[in-house]
Amino acid sequence: MRLDEATWPEVEAYLAHSRGIFIPTGSTEQHGPMGLIGTDALCAEAIAEGAADIAKAYVAPTVAYTPAPFNTAFPGTISISKPVFLSLVGEIIAGLLGQGFEILYFVNGHGANIAPLGEAADSFPDAHIRIRNWWDFETVDRLRTKYYGDWEGMHATPSEVSITQSTHRIVQPGDAAEPPEKLSARYIQTHAGDRHGPPDEHRRRFPDGRVGSHSALADPAHGDALLAAAIEAVADDYSQLCLRSASQMPPKTSTSPQK
Ligand code: NI
Repeated sequence: MRLDEATWPEVEAYLAHSRGIFIPTGSTEQHGPMGLIGTDALCAEAIAEGAADIAKAYVAPTVAYTPAPFNTAFPGTISISKPVFLSLVGEIIAGLLGQGFEILYFVNGHGANIAPLGEAADSFPDAHIRIRNWWDFETVDRLRTKYYGDWEGMHATPSEVSITQSTHRIVQPGDAAEPPEKLSARYIQTHAGDRHGPPDEHRRRFPDGRVGSHSALADPAHGDALLAAAIEAVADDYSQLCLRSASQMPPKTSTSPQK
């Protein structure tokens, strides 16, 4: 259920018996010659909506403006600074908590968001906040390894391109039919979490925007399988978070029993 497609009385009725909400976070940045600019946001949104359907919970509008400074030399990338992102997420969390949401589940699609999301959540130690990259779940990671091995790479990954091929559209690879430069283990280790260099240097180093990822291995059928695995994993993780939080919370009302 999308929050933006609900009415306020519907949300008020929901809050009388449920306290959870999903918040997809992504980015607006280049994803190589065949990846869509909104890839991270579109993947997180599709997974959050799928999990929310299972959990019968709301999904807040996707946070698609996030820090991606290293990609700004590629047209289409819109990056906001970390302090702005921290404030934005902090105010979203505070707003939701203020209205009675108590379980906030961030489905993330952009590596560079993780550290600031964690920092923002730390300001609300009493809230039940979970932050997860969709690709980190074991069942999803197993599929990525099975399909692509090392060619999953770091950016414009065939797994995320597969998902948007399934949910949105397929862009022909052109020159990206050839594999990109293979990354060393050391490069992957030192640049984890999207710790990349200044924009011009980053574009010189990775001229077509792929960072070790062979996007052309993407396949919409893989996308369907990755989506299904991620949706199931997120829904399961969310229900565990709800169970844990329920055991720590007093009943919401003492006078009007729900259900
Ligand atoms: Ni991405």
